[in-house]
Amino acid sequence: TPVERIRNFCIIAHIDHGKSTLADRMLQLTGVVDERAMRAQYLDRMDIERERGITVKSQAVRMPWGVTDESGRTEAYALNMIDTPGHVDFTYEVSRSLAACEGAILLVDAAQGIEAQTLANLYLAMENDLTIIPVLNKIDLPGADPDKYAAEIGSLVGVDPDDVLRVSGKTGVGVPELLDHVVRTIPAPTGDPDAPCRAMIFDSVYDTYRGVVTYVRVIDGRLSPRERIAMMSTLAQHDLLEIGVISPEPIPTQGLGIGEVGYLITGVKDVRQSKVGDTVTTARTGATEALSGYSDPKPMVFSGLFPIDGSDYPALRDALDKLKLNDAALNYEPETSTALGFGFRVGFLGLLHLEIIRERLEREFDLDLISTAPSVVYDLTMEDGTEIEVLNPSDFPEGKVREIREPVTRATILVPSEYIGTVMELCQSKRGNLRGMDYLSEDRVELRYTLPLAEIVFDFFDQLKSRTKGYASLDYDVEGQQAADLVKVDMLLQGEAVDAFSAIVHRDKAYNYGVEMAGKLKNLIPRQQFEVPIQAAIGSRIIARENIRAMRKDVLSKCYGGDISRKRKLLEKQKEGKKRMKNIGSVEVPQEAFIAALSSD
Ligand code: GTP
Repeated sequence: TPVERIRNFCIIAHIDHGKSTLADRMLQLTGVVDERAMRAQYLDRMDIERERGITVKSQAVRMPWGVTDESGRTEAYALNMIDTPGHVDFTYEVSRSLAACEGAILLVDAAQGIEAQTLANLYLAMENDLTIIPVLNKIDLPGADPDKYAAEIGSLVGVDPDDVLRVSGKTGVGVPELLDHVVRTIPAPTGDPDAPCRAMIFDSVYDTYRGVVTYVRVIDGRLSPRERIAMMSTLAQHDLLEIGVISPEPIPTQGLGIGEVGYLITGVKDVRQSKVGDTVTTARTGATEALSGYSDPKPMVFSGLFPIDGSDYPALRDALDKLKLNDAALNYEPETSTALGFGFRVGFLGLLHLEIIRERLEREFDLDLISTAPSVVYDLTMEDGTEIEVLNPSDFPEGKVREIREPVTRATILVPSEYIGTVMELCQSKRGNLRGMDYLSEDRVELRYTLPLAEIVFDFFDQLKSRTKGYASLDYDVEGQQAADLVKVDMLLQGEAVDAFSAIVHRDKAYNYGVEMAGKLKNLIPRQQFEVPIQAAIGSRIIARENIRAMRKDVLSKCYGGDISRKRKLLEKQKEGKKRMKNIGSVEVPQEAFIAALSSD
């Protein structure tokens, strides 16, 4: 396709505003997928994505579309639609996808209006200088109020409300006009066809049969089949085994020219050798300057993952190794816990990333896992000037700490104005600092806060949702670090610290945390032959205490005089229970108690 007939665009939207449904309709209208092969959310390939209705990995599809000009001639265009993940955890992938496009459809639910990720994605698109096409979706809904929200979007994007397109991804109304509009308003790609090749990797997916499939957008020059290519961040070279476009299945081509979007296969087996954001060039007479913008995704949230059955440890390691092939952001190292045994300390981009990985491990690899409370990375300066990074609360050093720094976020919350008070109260209690507030319309407000990441990963989102009946939306970006008065609280059983329950919390909240945890553990740990004190401590200072009273546990007394087989059964049952006990010093704790105490409620 000549470059002036190419249009590269993406759809950006808040979660559930209907991006995947609209993409499906476009595939159908352009004839890329026929009626029979159509299944809901064609682009969301992973089962887990389809079940949860969210898009995790971005994909790119090429669609033919004919547009008739004023003279009545129909010209054929190639539209490359690049699907982007919608959730905050995957902002890095969104921004790479955007960098591969000239335009973006900003999709807004006509019954909901603008939400936090609508704004976050819009700002990313504007930073990438994309042409924005504002579109209201779901106009078929009885509750849709397109006039109201057209005005809202109009004032946000700076267009006349009458120029905001109205579609229904569900019924298909307005979608052909939207595709025409894409051709007319989004500029064709530009680039230098004679320069050395430079192509940007915007996605990289591991496929069991083909190895890593890398999605690229060619900026300058051309990539041809059977060429030797180089990755500019690592200078690693690979043979190009196949190159082509996706429409909607992979179709090999005679190469990709400027502005074109497609895939490469080189036979590498690990997505880390083909990293999102990297520049691909040719090994011979290649480019000398990489395209800007490559950065390694950085894990922000850490959690310990432990198999409930200790013998599953090797299986857990294999499963993590497999998932890592497809997830450059996943990081882990072995961790040993007295309470939970052998496991891994795993780094995630955010809470959703954590949940998805955990669910995949349990579902696809059939593992039963316990995860410890998510924590963030703390940077410490000790009295003697040494610097320490703490990824795990139980590694918090004993010595004198001069300063602790924690990651802070810039958070944006969109909420109906009636909830401003309760949201401010919540942010206040989470150590938030108000940065600004704007009315987007008369009944909807944007609140901007600085909030510690540790408070967000705890239970912020759940509380925000429940206090606003689900009407608030949240987006956040880690912005830097701030010094804070934080302490480590240990939970002691009979004087011995249980590593899985150590937490780093703000000094003002340490007491509450200690009391709450001690109460929880008291209810979960069965009575022993002796009295067991449960204490919460900061260093050697005890801040809370509970007691588990002693009890003589004699299972046989219950069936005095009963028949012998019943006695044996009871004894066996008790033995089985024993196997699942962990010893903390001389205290026997059932595994279930740890699971229950670690699961938030
Ligand atoms: P993520 O991939 O998680 O970002 O979600 P999404 O934006 O792709 O939303 P999706 O297409 O999964 O749609 C969300 C819900 O809205 C689904 O239940 C759809 O059936 C519904 N939906 C999408 N488009 C329309 C529409 O035009 N009209 C109506 N009535 N419902 C729609």
